[in-house]
Amino acid sequence: MKNKKVCVVGLGYIGLPTAALMASNGFNVVGVDLNEHAVETINQGRIHIVEPDLDAFVRSAVAAGRLKAFLKPQAADIYMICVPTPFHEGEGIPQPNIDYVLSATRSIAGFVKPGDLVILESTSPVGTTQQMADELEKAGVEVDKIHMAYCPERVLPGKIMTELVENDRVVGGLTPEATQVVRDFYRTFVRGGVLETDAKTAEMCKLTENSFRDVNIAFANELSLICAKEGINVWNLIQLANRHPRVNILQPGAGVGGHCIAVDPWFIVARDPENARLIRTAREVNNNKTTWVIDQIKIAVADASARTGRKPKVACLGLAFKPDIDDLRESPAVHVADALLAQGYDVVAVEPNIQSHDKFDLLTLEAALETADVLAVLVKHRQFLDVSVKKKMSDRGALDFCGIDLNR
Ligand SMILES: NC(=O)c1ccc[n+]([C@@H]2O[C@H](COP(=O)([O-])OP(=O)(O)OC[C@H]3O[C@@H](n4cnc5c(N)ncnc54)[C@H](O)[C@@H]3O)[C@@H](O)[C@H]2O)c1
Repeated sequence: MKNKKVCVVGLGYIGLPTAALMASNGFNVVGVDLNEHAVETINQGRIHIVEPDLDAFVRSAVAAGRLKAFLKPQAADIYMICVPTPFHEGEGIPQPNIDYVLSATRSIAGFVKPGDLVILESTSPVGTTQQMADELEKAGVEVDKIHMAYCPERVLPGKIMTELVENDRVVGGLTPEATQVVRDFYRTFVRGGVLETDAKTAEMCKLTENSFRDVNIAFANELSLICAKEGINVWNLIQLANRHPRVNILQPGAGVGGHCIAVDPWFIVARDPENARLIRTAREVNNNKTTWVIDQIKIAVADASARTGRKPKVACLGLAFKPDIDDLRESPAVHVADALLAQGYDVVAVEPNIQSHDKFDLLTLEAALETADVLAVLVKHRQFLDVSVKKKMSDRGALDFCGIDLNR
């Protein structure tokens, strides 16, 4: 297997680590991306994204001549598609956008020959692998002579290089033979289990995993609204309830962010709105939690304005979509700060994980604690958990939307 050449299409957070890992396992890998900067950077043995340990893998793979990046696909034996799968914005239920997947598929069609493997890793709606096969067939590829499969990625950003190897993988072929051939390929570089199924089940499996998280977070977020009305501390409540041996409630927050959990459940809802009622409601509950947070801050600003007689300054503590990272994509905290700014509020932000922001004035935590009239803690960054910091926040009447527990 290792004398095979692999062509990875899409060299982002998933494609580049996978390409570098396969190269370090002895495969000859060509990577393809439309982004010239990415291609140039990789060919210099460097990386254009932030991910621990990835730079060392890419440096040695490029130096050994086993990884080279191109702007266009190259002939290979194994093709792996790792391009984005966002949704179309607009009215009603967000619809999945698989244009990148289909365009990447068309771009390899001229190279695919009998016996080749074509694998989709992008998180995709059920039926996408089959749609790729239809696209290849239209382009003249003898699809009954190739092996096509879906193999979703489950890695956690920040731990990608470890999890790529250690996590269990699910492989679903369009035929049982394709499943086996692709399974054998993954077993050459994955130490976790490689579990076999069909393509549709594998596609649904990835969407199920992220919808499970979203539904469970929605339960916690819904509880937080009910508790706020009752004057109950939701985090204490959850701690107590979780002492039941069969209860494990997740933590509420300012909403749900990132480009996976907040996106993928819509792929299920869009395909079967009639049955996916809980999954849709969970998405709505989680989005609504962010709106509720904005409303709470506005109430606090109105109070501060009445008290001081001037325009209050709001400090949003945290902008990232989860604690202790610099990733702001689809972040509910950014959404909160954005919405307040758009409505004319005086907004500053504290985000210890970034140096600058093109929209928000960034303050140090100390400066925000000194100067802001309303403090809204949106992300549970470790810098906010210090006992003396929490004491100051508590004295200043900070609003805690992420459970930093101001009184401890
Ligand atoms: N990042 C994660 O943690 C993660 C985890 C699990 C699954 N996924 C899924 O993996 C897929 C890729 O995600 P990502 O985070 O790597 O995205 P990304 O945006 O980091 O990278 C995708 C790359 O594909 C390139 N691209 C787009 N169309 C192309 C084409 N036709 N030919 C060549 N290159 C093309 C883009 O320029 C970009 O560099 C998505 O479906 C995502 O949902 C991501």
